[in-house]
Amino acid sequence: MTEALLKQFPQLRLIPQSNQVRFLHTRIRDATSSREDYVFFADRLIRLIVEEGLNCIPVADLEVNTPTQVPYNGVKSVHGICGVSIMRAGESMEQALRETCRGVRIGKILIQRDETTADKAPDTRFSYSKVPLDIHERIVFLMDPMLATGGSAAKAAEILIDKYKVKEENIIFLNVVSCPEGLTNFSSRFPKILVVTSAIDDGLNEHKYILPGLGDFGDRYFGTT
Ligand code: URA
Repeated sequence: MTEALLKQFPQLRLIPQSNQVRFLHTRIRDATSSREDYVFFADRLIRLIVEEGLNCIPVADLEVNTPTQVPYNGVKSVHGICGVSIMRAGESMEQALRETCRGVRIGKILIQRDETTADKAPDTRFSYSKVPLDIHERIVFLMDPMLATGGSAAKAAEILIDKYKVKEENIIFLNVVSCPEGLTNFSSRFPKILVVTSAIDDGLNEHKYILPGLGDFGDRYFGTT
């Protein structure tokens, strides 16, 4: 399934499934992990996802002089970036972006699910957004750790594109756990948005939770279980 999805959606990037990535997933998926451990290991994993997202941004050549007098042929960023987290779980990804991009601006989008229809269809309602004024000139890291039905991520992308005039190809979606349903819904609708994820799970249960997944990411991260 994973191979088929990667082939069907060339804009999908699954970070290398190294032993460390599998270890971090083991710790955050374990139902007996303490909240302290959950946050610690989730933060480590998110940092890897953010670094992979940064790898996807175009760069230009830059030569610098070294103390040895031999120049180093390096690179520099050519685009301004910013983050937008989908509240509330996406806020857990802000710290890693701040740690990697000094002074980065971070906007927020709140999308509320219609709980009365949550079992039947991915019905989402937009409630609030606040983003940097020049967001349309930046590469935007859209952040949400769980891609279940794809409804919230699609609504957030729609808001960025329609309301804030961000170019679809300038959005990079950063995600911890995805599944075939969410990826198919989201990536069919937004073929130019790069999706960086650290796991593609098996599917969804009747409550639209990812299986095997890790339960409710936001509740476990923010300690509201
Ligand atoms: N959101 C979560 O926190 N977990 C899921 O499995 C799906 C959506």
